[in-house]
Amino acid sequence: MEFSELLKKRRSCRAFQDTPVTQEQLQSILEAGQWAPSPLNQQPFQFIAVTDSTVKAQIQKTGIEAKQTVLDNSGPAWAGKYPMNFIGDCPLIVVVVYDPTKGGLGSYFEQPHGALQAASACIQNMMLQATDIGLDSLWFTFFSPLTLKPILEIPEELDIAGAIMIGKPAMEGKAPPRKSPKVYKDRFNTDA
Ligand SMILES: Cc1cc2nc3c(=O)[nH]c(=O)nc-3n(C[C@H](O)[C@H](O)[C@H](O)COP(=O)(O)O)c2cc1C
Repeated sequence: MEFSELLKKRRSCRAFQDTPVTQEQLQSILEAGQWAPSPLNQQPFQFIAVTDSTVKAQIQKTGIEAKQTVLDNSGPAWAGKYPMNFIGDCPLIVVVVYDPTKGGLGSYFEQPHGALQAASACIQNMMLQATDIGLDSLWFTFFSPLTLKPILEIPEELDIAGAIMIGKPAMEGKAPPRKSPKVYKDRFNTDA
């Protein structure tokens, strides 16, 4: 597939078939993630590949709880309609964790998010690879890390960049529209 076609074909999926993701597919996705750039090439990310239905149900529960927290705190009403049930049905969830202390030199000059930036690049690589091999994905963050970390036994010092749902889509997703790039000439807010 042409790269520009791949970019536009990747779609966030919220309804999956129950077809398992093969080990070979998972390996190709993880390898794509590993080729992401990272500060000082520290590759500060690690992965938990979740296929166990009990664990998936626990992740789904953290989503339901987060949704309730949004509603209890007068958050947007649409959040109440967010369908958490697809989480339990998703064949594979790759939880991407990272070490926030491995962000390169940035913490010396007010750029403390290098490790999260690297984990984000890693996730994007993984999602594009999933698309390339005929799978869909979702970068899912609708949970409290305080709840999810003990469930997955993630060490205190690591953070979660996202739970990436991966599988064959149950239906073809519609692409949400994109804005035109907002670009200035030489200085912010100066017309190009
Ligand atoms: C950091 C991040 C967190 C996201 N969290 C969620 C989420 O919790 N649930 C969800 O359904 N989509 C989530 N998304 C997906 C966005 O809603 C989606 O990318 C956006 O609507 C554009 O759609 P597309 O990915 O199909 O192009 C997240 C995306 C990013 C980058």
